[in-house]
Amino acid sequence: MTRRPGRTLRIAGDRLLAAIRDLGAIGATADGGVTRLAFTDEDLRGRKLVHDLMVGAGLQTRIDSAANIIGYRPGQRQDLPVLMLGSHIDTVPNGGALDGAYGVLAAVEVARALNEHGILLSHPLAVVAFNNEEGAFGTRGMWGAHAMVGALDESDLTAADDRGRPVADLLTEMGGDPGRLDQAVWAADEVAAYFELHIEQGPVLESGNVRIGVVEAITGRSTLDVTVRGKASHAGTTPMELRQDALVAAAQVILAVRDLAGRNGPVRVATVGSLSLAPNAWNVVPGIVTMQVDLRDVSESAMRQAAARLRGEILEIAMRTGTAIDVAGQNSVPAVSCDLGLRDVIAAAGESLNLSHLTLPSGAGHDAQVIGRIAPIGMIFVPSRGGISHAPEEHSAGDDLIAGANVLLQSVLGYDERYAN
Ligand code: GLV
Ligand code: MN
Ligand code: MN
Repeated sequence: MTRRPGRTLRIAGDRLLAAIRDLGAIGATADGGVTRLAFTDEDLRGRKLVHDLMVGAGLQTRIDSAANIIGYRPGQRQDLPVLMLGSHIDTVPNGGALDGAYGVLAAVEVARALNEHGILLSHPLAVVAFNNEEGAFGTRGMWGAHAMVGALDESDLTAADDRGRPVADLLTEMGGDPGRLDQAVWAADEVAAYFELHIEQGPVLESGNVRIGVVEAITGRSTLDVTVRGKASHAGTTPMELRQDALVAAAQVILAVRDLAGRNGPVRVATVGSLSLAPNAWNVVPGIVTMQVDLRDVSESAMRQAAARLRGEILEIAMRTGTAIDVAGQNSVPAVSCDLGLRDVIAAAGESLNLSHLTLPSGAGHDAQVIGRIAPIGMIFVPSRGGISHAPEEHSAGDDLIAGANVLLQSVLGYDERYAN
C-alpha cells in the first residue's frame, strides 16, 4: 500500500491561535466576551479579516449573493464535486470568541497547510464562512446556509429585523445581492461532503476527559414569535383589577414554555431568551411584549406537539389576563444525522493522531444541519471548559483547538483518499 501523502502533515498551531485572537479582538467586550452580530460593522471587519486570511492561504475568494464568504481551491479532478468545510464568524450578544470562528479559521488553516506543502487533493475544496448563523436581531438563523440549499423565499428578504430594517438591505451592506439569491444555491451533486469543526459547547468531552467528539446527530430546533398585547396605562392610577398588563401575561407564557421541557414536557429543552417590552418605563403598565421561543428536540413530532400545547395554554393565558396573544413566524430546522462514512473518516483521523474520541449528539444548532439537505455531513467537536458557550466564559484549551484542526486536516485527506473514485 502506498503511504498517503500528508499523513504526517500538521497545521501551524501558533498561527491558528493567533488568528483566533485577532478575530476575537473584533467586537471584544469589557468582560472578555465578543459581540460581533451579523449585519454590523464588527461583522464587516471580521469578514474582511477572514477574507484576507483566505487570500493569504492561497484560496480563490468570492462573496456569494447571500453574503457567504467562499474560498475555493481547485482539485486534481475537476469532475468531482466540492469537498466543503465551514462554519460562521458571527456571534450572539456577548458570546465567546470560539463559537463558529474556530471552525472557519481552522478550515482556512487546513487549506493553507495543504498549499504550503504542495498537496493537491483529488476533490476541489471550498472553505465557507456562512452569513448570519446566529439569527441576529431576530432574523432567521443559519441564513447563509439556508440560502445555499435554496430554502429561503421572498419573505426572508422582505422581513424586517428587530430594528425595523429589511433583511434585503442588510444583505446588500454585507456584499450580498438580494435580487440574485438563487445564484447562491448549490445543487446536491455539487457538494461531495461537508465537514464542520466546532467547540462542543457542552460538558461531555471535558467531563469524560476525551479530546475529540464525533457528532452522530444534530438536534432539531423550532422558533416561535410571540406578541402579547395588553393596554399601557398609568402605573400609579390604574387599579390592579382593571389592568391588561402585557408583561404579567408574558411571564405566564414564559413559565408555560419552561414546562414544555423536563419531566412532563414533550421536548428536551425549551427557552425564552429574547424579550422586549413597550413602552418599557417604570411608571407605565406594559402595553406590548414580544418574545422568541426556542424549542429543541431530535423529534419533529415532539416539537410540533410542544408548539400545539403552547398555543392552547396561550389562549387560556390571554383570557385570564385580558390580553391578546399572537403566535407567529414559526421557523424550524429539522434534526439531522451525520453520515456514517464521514464519522468513520473523523474517528480514523483522531486515531491516527492518537487522540481519544467519543461519539455524541449536538444539542446546539449548526450550519451543518442545513447543508445536510444537499450533502453528507460530518462534525468534529473539541472540549469546552465547563461546557459553557454563548457567554464570555466560553473557552477551549489551545492544545485542544490545535488537535481539532489537525483532525479536520486528516479528515480532509482521509476523505479525499477514500472517496476519490
Ligand atoms: C446556535 O448557536 C444555536 O442556537 O444552537
Ligand atoms: Mn452559537
Ligand atoms: Mn456555532
